[in-house]
Amino acid sequence: MNVKPFTIALDGPAAAGKGTIARALSEHFSMPHLDTGLLYRAVGYKVSQGKNPLQAAIDLTEGDFANPSQLRTRIAGEHASQVAAMPEVRAQLLEFQRNFARRNGGAILDGRDIGTVICPDAEVKLFVTADDRTRAQRRFDELWPNDPTLTYDAVFADLQKRDARDASRDDAPMAQADDALLLDTTKLAIDAAVAAAVRFVQEKRT
Ligand code: C5P
Repeated sequence: MNVKPFTIALDGPAAAGKGTIARALSEHFSMPHLDTGLLYRAVGYKVSQGKNPLQAAIDLTEGDFANPSQLRTRIAGEHASQVAAMPEVRAQLLEFQRNFARRNGGAILDGRDIGTVICPDAEVKLFVTADDRTRAQRRFDELWPNDPTLTYDAVFADLQKRDARDASRDDAPMAQADDALLLDTTKLAIDAAVAAAVRFVQEKRT
């Protein structure tokens, strides 16, 4: 068993498939996985209930994102993206993510700035993307069963706005690290995308 730190960093825009790939890698390699978007979603949720953003980040515990269904809504994504543009919130969440990443045996983190800012020395970096319409359709299919009033156009507009904010903020914008492998999932079935990611990780582990 690998007891040294071995970090797998997955970044990319919303609904590109990085969460699904991260969970599959976690199962395949028996490594713990942190969906870092949940940290920002949990802070955003508390802020939407009236809490100060920095205080919400300081007070965050793992229990706040242990039951993520209420954090995976469309509105929670918007709140998350707003607090994620605040440098003091990002600074407060940094150490937790780095500690998670460097645990013995390795860890998988997915987000927007893992390969660039949180873990620039990660052993494996992947930037997962897909074209805008494909991502919007996937997110619509995921959210619609719980919100039948939702329209595809609204989801598409949300994603465009959120991606633009995430990519243009001054502090830790969403970006592909120079040494990250680009995985475009537009035309890849999920099994093929996972298989490509598994192969890439295996090459780096040997
Ligand atoms: O990945 P997810 O869609 O759950 O992320 C929600 C929001 O959290 C993103 O739109 C982004 O603003 C923010 N985020 C971030 N950095 C990360 C992960 C998520 O800024 N590492």
